[in-house]
Amino acid sequence: MKDKIVLITGANSGIGKAAAFKFASEGYHVIMGCRNIEISSAVQRNIIETTKNTNVDLMKLDVSSFDSIRTFCSAFKAKYPRLDILIHNAAFLNHGIKEYQLSPEHIELSFATNTFGPFLMTRLLTGHLEKSQDPRILNACTTNIKNFFDPKRKIEFDNLRGERKDTRPYSTYKMYGDSKMALLMLTFKMAEEYKYTGIKMNALQINRVKLSKETINKLNSVWKVFAHLQNLTNPLPSGMAETYFHICTSDEFKNITGQLINHKREIVQPAITEKGFTQLKNIFGSNTFPSYATNPHNVEQIWKICTSLTEDYLTTHIG
Ligand SMILES: NC(=O)c1ccc[n+]([C@@H]2O[C@H](COP(=O)([O-])OP(=O)(O)OC[C@H]3O[C@@H](n4cnc5c(N)ncnc54)[C@H](OP(=O)(O)O)[C@@H]3O)[C@@H](O)[C@H]2O)c1
Repeated sequence: MKDKIVLITGANSGIGKAAAFKFASEGYHVIMGCRNIEISSAVQRNIIETTKNTNVDLMKLDVSSFDSIRTFCSAFKAKYPRLDILIHNAAFLNHGIKEYQLSPEHIELSFATNTFGPFLMTRLLTGHLEKSQDPRILNACTTNIKNFFDPKRKIEFDNLRGERKDTRPYSTYKMYGDSKMALLMLTFKMAEEYKYTGIKMNALQINRVKLSKETINKLNSVWKVFAHLQNLTNPLPSGMAETYFHICTSDEFKNITGQLINHKREIVQPAITEKGFTQLKNIFGSNTFPSYATNPHNVEQIWKICTSLTEDYLTTHIG
């Protein structure tokens, strides 16, 4: 497998780190796309020493910054002949934050990191993915999208750049869920677009995994206690990393594209009814996703915003 190249964002912590270990131990050429080189190089060294795979590289990448993505993608394309597997794992969710946080391009930070960043990166790396025999992209999604079974729940399309920050209280958890729903909608739309290129794109509905010490340390004190309590029963990231690996490498998923996959590795279906008892089954089960995700009006809105925000970065750098 030495010649297969896998790029994992946010590979210095949690599931991303466990996935980097897994791919390296299976002999893949792993590129860790991380924003903090000092912390991440210790992780890189540890992976190399443990797995004895020296093909584990580290490249600086801030997924919330369009400039950083552009610089990263140019360097990546100059260094590597192609890209076989792209895992959009990095995400922003910082429980307890009350203030709007914006990216360098003045986009709300959850959307910049979890939606627009992955969109731009995928676009800029499309040409390199097309050079692979079996290109696969995996987007890390979440069960949080089930909040959209609430008929009142909507993405705040009018607030993706913090336009309403003076009048609408900030909920990092809501913005996180909205940004991951947007990522799911992009998964469906882009997979359709890529159908004739051979690139497969799926999303994984991650339910719950132990949070890393580093991630817990970023939380405020109330959330810290809550996270420690949850960690008592949550499974280790390595289990989810195995699922990343399976979706991105197995024959079972070779021809699967444009799907949401749950932690049991089953394809999640669109909900047929979102009323009454069936709605309870939708909310508590893991086999259906809200119809909001495939509503053409919603998809069109997120698509338009993605393409217009990234236009300047795409017109001159596509490929
Ligand atoms: N853990 C769960 O229970 C759970 C549940 C549902 C979904 N998920 C999803 O699973 C994925 C991994 O989660 P996790 O629990 O493993 O999280 P984690 O341990 O907090 O790791 C997140 C990673 O993303 C990186 N990151 C954040 N912002 C970045 C940016 N702007 N540029 C580059 N890297 C950035 C972090 O880097 P730094 O170390 O530099 O901050 C870190 O390496 C995420 O997409 C998350 O939404 C997790």
